[in-house]
Amino acid sequence: MNTAAMVGKFPPVVNVASVPQRSPFRYPGGKTWLVPYVRRWLSSLDPRPVELIEPFAGGGIVGLTAVFEDLVERVVLVEKDEDVAAVWMTILDSEGAEWLALRILAFEPTPDNVRAVLAETGELPLWERAFRTLLRNRVQRGGILAPGAGLLRKGENGRGVASRWYPQTLARRILDIAARRSRIGFVAGDGIAEIRARRGRPDLAFYLDPPYLAAGRRLYRYSEVDHPGLFALACELTGPFLMSYDDAAEIRALAADHGLEARRVPMMNTHHARKFELLIGRNLDWLD
Ligand SMILES: C[S@@+](CC[C@H](N)C(=O)[O-])C[C@H]1O[C@@H](n2cnc3c(N)ncnc32)[C@H](O)[C@@H]1O
Repeated sequence: MNTAAMVGKFPPVVNVASVPQRSPFRYPGGKTWLVPYVRRWLSSLDPRPVELIEPFAGGGIVGLTAVFEDLVERVVLVEKDEDVAAVWMTILDSEGAEWLALRILAFEPTPDNVRAVLAETGELPLWERAFRTLLRNRVQRGGILAPGAGLLRKGENGRGVASRWYPQTLARRILDIAARRSRIGFVAGDGIAEIRARRGRPDLAFYLDPPYLAAGRRLYRYSEVDHPGLFALACELTGPFLMSYDDAAEIRALAADHGLEARRVPMMNTHHARKFELLIGRNLDWLD
């Protein structure tokens, strides 16, 4: 089949500019493009789940959207990366969010100031660690937080690191999330253990977005996931689940081995090139 005919079989590429950005992160492997699909998936669930669990939360766009748009009553985000976790814990702390918003608004993003914050090592207090993480996420190439990621050089219009620093937007997103604090739970730890602990709960829905099979090591501090084990665990869940993965032959084979449906959906990557990702579940009829 030629490419044009193949593309015709797929839903149109989601225009991410039409999706409200609610996360304080620009996250590598972020799922803004998936939001319209998640709306359809969650709305199709009957009965409505009491909670959505997002065990590989990263920037948490799916969980945030679910709460902001009342698709579920509560979400639980889980993240293992201690820096990313520091951001979520600070935002969900009754005084941390305001502190963080003010710290962001007061920060002057000169190259020297940026370098000074990024050079801070050792044990930082939690809130300051959250600030450093958000700054790194803005000024490192591709938002990559894994050790060794390079600094953005030219930035937008040659304005360097400051070009990616949108203090008002960031502060507003943080306060908007904090305003929904009672509906957002966060666990700093292992998403797989959190899934396992809830596997017998039919009233919970799970959105699983583990690190990419191929690029995970470059993108995340924690990229090692036992993918066959995760598939086996997903099959043990009593509640509904949706997984997203990079479109790799190994992953399609794992889905088939576990009797799961896998469909390719188109998205635009950060280089504005069309690529495909896989959505995997017991039944993806809601996609039609
Ligand atoms: C593909 S990213 C998730 C992106 C997210 N869906 C978004 O839109 O921002 C995978 C995330 O899983 C995290 N991670 C890796 N292993 C983990 C584990 N065992 N438990 C919890 N989080 C883990 C990584 O640090 C990374 O943030």
